[in-house]
Amino acid sequence: MKKTITVRTNSAVYGIFIGPGITGSLNSFFRASGRPDSAFIISSPRVFGLYGREITGELKTSGVNDIATGIFGDGERNKSMPNYECLLGKIIDFESGKQKQTTIIALGGGVVGDMAGFVASTYRRGVPCIQIPTTLLAAVDSSVGGKTGIDIKRNGSIIKNIAGTFYQPSAVFINTGFLGTLPESQVLNGLSEVIKYGVIRDHGLFDFIGKNRDRILNRESGVLAHIIHRSCSIKKDVVEKDEKETRNVRTILNYGHTVGHAVESASGFRYSHGQSVAIGMVCEAEISAKLGVLSREKCLRIRELIESTGLPVKIKGCSIEKIMGIMKHDKKFREGKNKFALPSDIGKVVVKTDIPERVIKSVLAGAVS
Ligand SMILES: NC(=O)c1ccc[n+]([C@@H]2O[C@H](COP(=O)([O-])OP(=O)(O)OC[C@H]3O[C@@H](n4cnc5c(N)ncnc54)[C@H](O)[C@@H]3O)[C@@H](O)[C@H]2O)c1
Repeated sequence: MKKTITVRTNSAVYGIFIGPGITGSLNSFFRASGRPDSAFIISSPRVFGLYGREITGELKTSGVNDIATGIFGDGERNKSMPNYECLLGKIIDFESGKQKQTTIIALGGGVVGDMAGFVASTYRRGVPCIQIPTTLLAAVDSSVGGKTGIDIKRNGSIIKNIAGTFYQPSAVFINTGFLGTLPESQVLNGLSEVIKYGVIRDHGLFDFIGKNRDRILNRESGVLAHIIHRSCSIKKDVVEKDEKETRNVRTILNYGHTVGHAVESASGFRYSHGQSVAIGMVCEAEISAKLGVLSREKCLRIRELIESTGLPVKIKGCSIEKIMGIMKHDKKFREGKNKFALPSDIGKVVVKTDIPERVIKSVLAGAVS
């Protein structure tokens, strides 16, 4: 049941280890790669309460006895500069007077992973970071690929991920057992990204989700390991070709995200990231069908799969003008030009630019209720 993926980018080579109880392999990983002198675990109160003891115990068994923790509050508003500075301060105090190299351990969802990655990449110009994602979204997306970051508050608004780095982890351990305590809403949040991988690259994964919806929502370990493995393999492939998003390859991961990000902001984050991406995928498939890139039948199949999982396909309580206004500030809409990753089939995607505004508006008009 245990699966391994090796990611090879220009800046790093690392393993993604997937399976129930996989964090029990930290010991052999450290033995093979060199045991760190000390570890600093970054986590949230909820996740550390659930799994902190287990991870601390694994580290001790691995011979890492000098361990400290930096716990910060849950939620996007805590992926902040004050918390970043506070964590750096705690590591400085932890290392004070020691001649040791600390490894950062990120134990939590995407908020923890992004923050811990950013701390690791900037502290002393970079220390090793091991990602232990505990949400489905973090497992299939944020823990892999090296994007780190925090949000900055400006004029009363939160600007997401505006301070960040590309910094690959030293390893990613995805313990599917840890996903057993996730609320269903969080499973759906991550499942939205898994559907995206199916649409852009993997017809088999798309079909698998349709047939195994209940087993996924019941958090069956083997089923989760399969969809995580497929998703991470696709992300690995894209990231290896375009580590720093400079070659237009990583753009395909944005399917559903151009409209999705705008819906997320326009709703004041009432829609979660996964829900917004689900709506975005439906809208962008519709744009693709209107342009004649995707057949009507495939467009309907995408919509039906998303709807059948329980994710939303309609936008409630946001105006088209607000969504369009936010989309125009998106980097994918630079200099008045837009750029969309659009499905041309299930498992295939194309990047299209300069889509007429009237097409986008008419699709949004059909999606807003
Ligand atoms: N770096 C990237 O490439 C990338 C990609 C996508 C998203 N992100 C970022 O990820 C963040 C969202 O991550 P998220 O969706 O994981 O949300 P999250 O980190 O806020 O976690 C969601 C909730 O789940 C709880 N939780 C986590 N693991 C749990 C478990 N095993 N059992 C019970 N509860 C658990 C957390 O305490 C939290 O309340 C955003 O900040 C987004 O910007 C980054």
